[in-house]
Amino acid sequence: MAHQQIYPRGCTFTESDWDALYPFWYPIAFSHDVGDRPMTATLLDQRLVLWRTGAGISVANDICLHRGIPLSMGWVAGDHLVCKYHGFHYSADGQCVKIPANPEANIPKKLCLKTYPAQEAYSLVGTTLSSGSTYPLPGLPEWNDSDYQQILPEAVDLDAAAGRQMEGFLDVAHFAWVHTETFGDINNPVVPRYEVMPTEQGLRAKYSYSHMV
Ligand code: FES
Repeated sequence: MAHQQIYPRGCTFTESDWDALYPFWYPIAFSHDVGDRPMTATLLDQRLVLWRTGAGISVANDICLHRGIPLSMGWVAGDHLVCKYHGFHYSADGQCVKIPANPEANIPKKLCLKTYPAQEAYSLVGTTLSSGSTYPLPGLPEWNDSDYQQILPEAVDLDAAAGRQMEGFLDVAHFAWVHTETFGDINNPVVPRYEVMPTEQGLRAKYSYSHMV
């Protein structure tokens, strides 16, 4: 029987778009922002909670299994995420391990949060909504190469479809017209031929642009 996909409540994506997008890795936070308090992020309309433990970062759906309040309202105690409402404790792998109102309770295994893989790389926290087979985290060898400048810009909220934003990054012809206050040069609008190479993860292009003086 085919696996029944469960879409986030209030999902604004078409099912076919969500199915195409969910297996990939996405940055959901800066590493330096995940400290001693849980925080929330939304990925493909799925609201998530992130918390840091001794083993790294845990990511789960931001909803307590008891009465459904956001776990990001709680706090971190050791490696446990503690719900603010009745103090249920969840371990780094999402298992409920403590019910303060009933300390003798035999906690069922199914009282376990829906968790997702998490990796820290390039000063970011990445996750994928696919818990099964998945694509690898995108490689960025230049991040550790001293011949390159590593820049971690601030996050910005964009009221635009992600596809439009990706298009902007790939569209080098707009540099000369839009980025005139920085590296763009209206006197250098020509886009020379540049090489696009297939890789195991997609395509890779190397494009050089110079500001004429
Ligand atoms: S709602 Fe989380 S412990 Fe009750």
